[in-house]
Amino acid sequence: MQKFEAFLLDNLPKSQSIHPHYEKALQEMLEAGGKRFRPALLLGVVGAYNSLMLEGARHAAYAIELLHTYSLIHDDLPAMDDSPLRRGKPTLHVVYDEVTAILVGDALNTYAFEVLSNAPFSDATRVKLIRELASNGGLNGMVLGQAIDCHFENSPLSIADVKILHTNKTAKLIAASLKMGAIIVAREDVADTLYNFGIKLGLLFQIQDDILDVTQSSEEAGKLTGNDEDKNSFVTLIGLNETMREANILADELEDELNTFDENLKKSLSSLLTKYINRHRN
Ligand code: IPE
Ligand code: IPE
Ligand code: MG
Ligand code: MG
Ligand code: MG
Repeated sequence: MQKFEAFLLDNLPKSQSIHPHYEKALQEMLEAGGKRFRPALLLGVVGAYNSLMLEGARHAAYAIELLHTYSLIHDDLPAMDDSPLRRGKPTLHVVYDEVTAILVGDALNTYAFEVLSNAPFSDATRVKLIRELASNGGLNGMVLGQAIDCHFENSPLSIADVKILHTNKTAKLIAASLKMGAIIVAREDVADTLYNFGIKLGLLFQIQDDILDVTQSSEEAGKLTGNDEDKNSFVTLIGLNETMREANILADELEDELNTFDENLKKSLSSLLTKYINRHRN
């Protein structure tokens, strides 16, 4: 992942204009870091089957991180979660203003697709990757999840509906990261298995995030915690103990499914997946 980080820093979005801080704001949240979990998933699948393609795959991994970073910038806006801290840094609407945060989010969203359209793959592969990122990150994916999340603040949903919410806002992009790896190496025979695994992994990832909201300090998390009281989070609906139980069940199922993967995938993804599958138990 060191090479991915170097690639990202070499390819930060650039703009030439008279604007005093637009370019700096475009780059700030990307440079601030984060777990880079979604890029690691995509690169893990590519590395499992064709390490010669890792260099080209970094373009696609970067595109996912761009879209994810945009989603975080908008998620923190006063109209959404109203958070002053992200990736250990003050959020863009605090450092600059809301207009800057909204427009930087918009720019990173479209730049993600520009990066994918220029990635070093065949036209057919590029179209498949663009479709996957758009359909999971957009109107019937992350954006839908965010819409449900914000609309139903202070109106408790059933756990079944919260699973739908979490699947859209978080799991689909995680699932797409794995599937896009399979598309790049033309292993579409494993694409559906990886996507379905990713949906479950993403649901667990968001449940863990709900847990961390009440168990970590803002300093530890690098973002405002204790901020989900009005939300349909697992913890607010069923409490921490029951949420831990749900997370453990999902984690055990994912460990079992990981063991059914072929040797290449297991070798490439096991350490990353084991770390994230168990992160709520640490
Ligand atoms: C935060 O995602 C938003 C959720 C979907 C829970 P991450 O926890 O991956 O955030 P970064 O990328 O590490 O900052
Ligand atoms: C956000 O979920 C998911 C996104 C699509 C950005 P949260 O609102 O729980 O994410 P954090 O806790 O602010 O990172
Ligand atoms: Mg949110
Ligand atoms: Mg939030
Ligand atoms: Mg959260």
